Amino acid sequence: MRIFAFNQSEHHENDALRRKSFAFFLADFQRLLACMTHSTHGTSSPSSDNPAEPESCVCAAQTRRTLLIGALATTACFAGSGHAAAGEDPPGADERPQKGDVLVFSEGDQEGKLVTFTDLPLGGPPVHAWPKDPKTSVVRSASRLNEILIIRLDPAGLDDQTRARAQDGIVAYSAICSHAGCPVTAWVKSDVGDKEVFKCMCHNSEYDPRQGAQVVFGPAPRRLAALPLALSDGSLTVAGNFIGKVGGQQPG
Ligand code: FES
Repeated sequence: MRIFAFNQSEHHENDALRRKSFAFFLADFQRLLACMTHSTHGTSSPSSDNPAEPESCVCAAQTRRTLLIGALATTACFAGSGHAAAGEDPPGADERPQKGDVLVFSEGDQEGKLVTFTDLPLGGPPVHAWPKDPKTSVVRSASRLNEILIIRLDPAGLDDQTRARAQDGIVAYSAICSHAGCPVTAWVKSDVGDKEVFKCMCHNSEYDPRQGAQVVFGPAPRRLAALPLALSDGSLTVAGNFIGKVGGQQPG
């Protein structure tokens, strides 16, 4: 499941639309009440003898129809409002991983639970995770660019730069392919070697996490961004900002 951020201006436009729809609904409702009251007093039909009769009462059936449509529209609107409210992200949910963030599973049976050392089998496969602010409990899942691959590898198999950044062989990278921004989902044997690698199934780009997630196959133009981690008492935290650009290359 992937969650996408609402644009702030979209929120404002939706709110304005909902307010306007409710105002129309209210006006219709008041007109109908006036008609019904009028009707109760035996003047439900328009009459030239009654010039003060509201025009909206010319046809009570028409007004009721308007009310019904208004009610349906308003119901739909508020249903939409509820949906929008549910989709509204708390502050910080779309911010990039921050130093001190913990990491939680982004999918599977353990979705939302903390990722710890014991969740990472040596040699993979990787765990897909979101950063989470431990102070506010906000999971930074409002931007797909925040999804992370965490994997534990044999430190002896890492290149110097990757080993220096690793924590007991654990390394983390952006899960977004640098080619066209698809999620990197596979952990499979490379097309050009006998080791397993991260693979983006959109156009088959492969990245080797032992070598800083450099591209070993496919059209991806650059390595995956790396995320420094810290490990304390089996708990993983983010130790710094992404190293490298996150996301796919711009078209054109
Ligand atoms: S988007 Fe990943 S290889 Fe094209």
